Amino acid sequence: MTETTATRPTGLTTAFDIPRPPGLTWYVQAQQPVGYEVSLTRGLLNPANPALAKAVGADGRSGVRALVVVDRVVDELYGTALRGYFTAWQTDVTWLVMPGDEETKTLDQVVEVTRAMTRMGILRRTERVVVVGGGVLMDVVGMAASLYRRGAPYVRVPTTLVGQVDAGVGVKTGVNHGTHKNRLGTYFAPEAALIDPEFLRTVPQRHIANGLAEIIKMALIKDASLFKLLEETVAHISSDSLADCGAAMSEVVSRAIAGMLDELEPNLWEGVLERSVDYGHTFSPSLELRADPPLLHGEAVAVDMAVCVALAAGRQYLTTEDAHRALALIAAAGLPLTHPVFTAELLQLGLADAVKHRDGQQRLPLTDGIGSCVFVNDVTAAELSRALEFVHAYVGAADGVDGSDR
Ligand SMILES: NC(=O)c1ccc[n+]([C@@H]2O[C@H](COP(=O)([O-])OP(=O)(O)OC[C@H]3O[C@@H](n4cnc5c(N)ncnc54)[C@H](O)[C@@H]3O)[C@@H](O)[C@H]2O)c1
Ligand SMILES: [Zn+2]
Repeated sequence: MTETTATRPTGLTTAFDIPRPPGLTWYVQAQQPVGYEVSLTRGLLNPANPALAKAVGADGRSGVRALVVVDRVVDELYGTALRGYFTAWQTDVTWLVMPGDEETKTLDQVVEVTRAMTRMGILRRTERVVVVGGGVLMDVVGMAASLYRRGAPYVRVPTTLVGQVDAGVGVKTGVNHGTHKNRLGTYFAPEAALIDPEFLRTVPQRHIANGLAEIIKMALIKDASLFKLLEETVAHISSDSLADCGAAMSEVVSRAIAGMLDELEPNLWEGVLERSVDYGHTFSPSLELRADPPLLHGEAVAVDMAVCVALAAGRQYLTTEDAHRALALIAAAGLPLTHPVFTAELLQLGLADAVKHRDGQQRLPLTDGIGSCVFVNDVTAAELSRALEFVHAYVGAADGVDGSDR
């Protein structure tokens, strides 16, 4: 037996030194570094492209396992290519095909993913979950990964425009609960987010417009050049033009992603509640699920943005001309400016809920000139009513009719 001399790290108290309670306090401080790559790539499902293989640790020789959770629609469209890719890279995949619409964004779906992880017996650190789908699946699978053994590595492959410029590139996960959007959720970074615009070719136009709402948001709060670019190109933005990813579309998508990451990176856990990316997300979370039929996320954001444009005009943060330009861009993107659930009363309720979410203050982001943002805490009910009138008057004038009940 080898004799060892135990040494006590300096600075630690011995059992004898420990004072009797009360008066015993430990302070634990730790930091968790977070780093992940967001890559814009082409031909992600072409076996010649190693990006996805690398993300699951496959080298094409030794067998590697992964759980791939795919949106049902994406599986119908890209399932063969996905399977071919992983076969080429000698990856042993357990497949889970799930629905990817807002009404399926539930805790049950999260549990469903964790069950598949258990069935597969996924290794805790070296085997990855890959999520391929829209924003809904990004949020559901990200949440499952964050809960499973308190955190399992996962890779995001967003396939909708919302997914590619927003839900797929950040660290938020979540599900709806009651009538509340994303009421349950976590912050949990993926290992990588791989974005291939080719997936957008099959996305219906309504869902392209849905994603454009988040891009217009970035333009309004921080990127005047993107705003101008959108004004020039919006009429040509389609699933095909985005998938072709020519110079203009590539600039639109990459400016949107870069702007989003620039805002998220210094505030990943939302320690600071003044978040410019919450623009258009003040009233919409309470109203998105109230609409019948429900609004898409980006549609609710668009109506919320229209109110905020009008609020900014009311405070002279935006000239009337710029406010009209902003409303015109939202409408040209195929998005609504008004909706029957966005009444003055419900806007007040939405704002009250946002105040709770933002820890007691409105912290309402407004455009301060196109491409810049301020936060206000003193919006009144009367201002909200006037803002709605401003938007309705614009819609009425644009339609050449009184649009007050639209
Ligand atoms: N976590 C975040 O930071 C964050 C940010 C923005 C949005 N979100 C969430 O994202 C969700 C909205 O995402 P979404 O708009 O992508 O919705 P979604 O995931 O429901 O996808 C929309 C529809 O497109 C289908 N689909 C997906 N990819 C396709 C493709 N390539 N071709 C054809 N059809 C395809 C889906 O099956 C679905 O029917 C909302 O729940 C929202 O809260 C989260
Ligand atoms: Zn959003």
